[in-house]
Amino acid sequence: MKGPVKPRTPARKAAPKKRAPARDAVDWGALAAAARRTRRRAHAPYSGYAVGAAIGTRDGRIFAGCNVENASYGLTVCAERSAILHMVAAGARAPVALVLVAPGAKPVMPCGACRQTLAEFAPDTLPIRAFAARSGTSRAVTLGELLPHGFRAVALAHVD
Ligand code: THU
Repeated sequence: MKGPVKPRTPARKAAPKKRAPARDAVDWGALAAAARRTRRRAHAPYSGYAVGAAIGTRDGRIFAGCNVENASYGLTVCAERSAILHMVAAGARAPVALVLVAPGAKPVMPCGACRQTLAEFAPDTLPIRAFAARSGTSRAVTLGELLPHGFRAVALAHVD
């Protein structure tokens, strides 16, 4: 005698194709190479502190910069702002990542002026990686972590 009819297992839906793991769209290696290369061009005769920076933009381009010091010390331009100036002059406006390479064994973070300049073009989520030239160690942060509550152009809409 036949036993109870087994309910048919419902036709299985085809297993969803495994997605490739979300690739990091940012080519950090290329950015770090550009920052290191450009650091060698720093004009830092007063501090001896050569810094390189590279910004990756949404369209896949890379804009690098280095610090350019001046005998009138206050006119010094940091590597990060130099990279931003390159980016804007080339018609790009959407940074997606920044790499900074500075001397020493510990990574250092962009100065306050550069944070504010970055905030003009980048959202709080901008990923930043700072590399220490001597040790190669790096630290990853976001612009929002470095500049919480940053001042942005939208505030200018409110004039009392
Ligand atoms: N400097 C940068 O280029 N980026 C920074 O984030 C901090 C400081 C430069 C400015 C100056 O030429 C030298 O490092 C020492 O302050």
